[in-house]
Amino acid sequence: MPKHQSFQKSYIYTALWLAILGGFSLGAHIAMPMGFGWNLPPFYHIWVQTHGHLQLLGWTGLFIIGVSLYFMPRFVKVPLPYQFLTKWILILITTGLIIKTGALFTIPYLEVGTIQSFLTYLVRVSAGLEWIGVFLYVFLLVTLFKRKPRNYEGLKSVQPFFVLMATGFLLYASLHIVQYFIYDAAGRMPWSSMTTDIFFMLVLFPVAFAFSVRTFPLFIQIPPFRVSFFWFGIAYGLSAVTCITGAFHDLPLQLDALAKILISCIILILIYHLKLIPKMILSPRLFMIRYYGEKYLNDRIDSGAFTRARPGYYDFGQYGRFELLIFSAYIWLAIFAGLEILRSVSQITALSIPFGHDPVRHVFLLGFITLLIFGMAQRMLPGFLKKKGLWSRRIVGWTFILGNLAVLGRVLPMLIPQRWVAGVPEVHQWLMYWFGMSGSFAILALILLLVNLWRTFRG
Ligand code: HEM
Repeated sequence: MPKHQSFQKSYIYTALWLAILGGFSLGAHIAMPMGFGWNLPPFYHIWVQTHGHLQLLGWTGLFIIGVSLYFMPRFVKVPLPYQFLTKWILILITTGLIIKTGALFTIPYLEVGTIQSFLTYLVRVSAGLEWIGVFLYVFLLVTLFKRKPRNYEGLKSVQPFFVLMATGFLLYASLHIVQYFIYDAAGRMPWSSMTTDIFFMLVLFPVAFAFSVRTFPLFIQIPPFRVSFFWFGIAYGLSAVTCITGAFHDLPLQLDALAKILISCIILILIYHLKLIPKMILSPRLFMIRYYGEKYLNDRIDSGAFTRARPGYYDFGQYGRFELLIFSAYIWLAIFAGLEILRSVSQITALSIPFGHDPVRHVFLLGFITLLIFGMAQRMLPGFLKKKGLWSRRIVGWTFILGNLAVLGRVLPMLIPQRWVAGVPEVHQWLMYWFGMSGSFAILALILLLVNLWRTFRG
């Protein structure tokens, strides 16, 4: 009888190292000169697009793959097939990312010639390695779902979200490789923005939401969901596909804007269903009475469970205040949805807004996804490795503070209208310094997270 595979912590270590030494360092290296008024690095476009790709596939991608390869088989109650492939997926994607980054940063410095052609070839091969890694991952997921018991209903509510995630991974990796065959590797890849949108619409939000639905009732004690998210998933998927089609074909602007507004509204409705806002503002007692009923609360008080555990949670505090990271992640997600609605309305009306796509995208990628990873990693991963708690609870608080400082610094200076600070140039100057330091705050948070997980896994 095949057994479940143990948790592959190498995915988490690799994602963290790629983030610290790769994606976030590149981001910090671009943001610093912008914030402090220094010269931008040469071949700026290579820095930007390599930063984006490393963050998406290396940081968030490897984290998601590592966690899902452990979580999904247990969720559908079938051991993962072809378990030997898990290590190959990690090797292929990581090797691809490292070789491609090295080659892309060397090519612009070379004269046209044999070495340059060789490196261009290497870029394509490494994008191919990434593609094979992603393909094998999707293959494993599809095989796993095919083997799930026929009468298994647990997946149905969130199935569309997982289908979107698998499709998004494959589409992202495929378009990423194809563009290196069509365009000059030394130039700005024209599909970068589109592939980023594909990754965050089809992969990141669906998987983050599906995991939240499955884990929050246990982690932050919210009642199990009575609604099915199936039709929300379908509506979200159709709207996302409409937006993505708009990137390939000229769609009427109104249709694109409407699809984005619909996506944002679905996100807000889903946040409402997660009951995070009442969880944040109501006392544990009131929350329990409202959503579980007074009898349940009294039973828990009688059995001693309510006072033994941390009020409002099932844990005893051994994971620190991880919920702060989850709450702030979802607050950033709500802000993202609000900003996207404003941006879309401005596309079809005379409304003028003072910010572009970039800060809004980072509200989602840094504010929502990265803080959610910080929170989930510190709450969930010790259990995956049968550890009773975290090595340091204090670090959880520091990752919350530094993570939010990084998000605020990264997005506030770009979101605040210039005219608000025009009269006080010092405020603008300090905001820009904060922007310049945002990458360093994030790197510090990541190093603390790495130490905390490493000491926890070893302990
Ligand atoms: C504090 C941390 C971060 C800093 C300082 C930072 C900085 C930057 C900067 C300066 C740009 C270029 C903006 C422009 O040219 O308009 C950029 C683009 C981008 N960033 Fe970040 N970033 C951070 C975190 C993240 C995270 C966590 C992700 C993803 C998970 C991410 C994904 C991207 C993407 C996809 C792009 C666009 C790439 C492209 O256009 O090809 N960033 N970032």
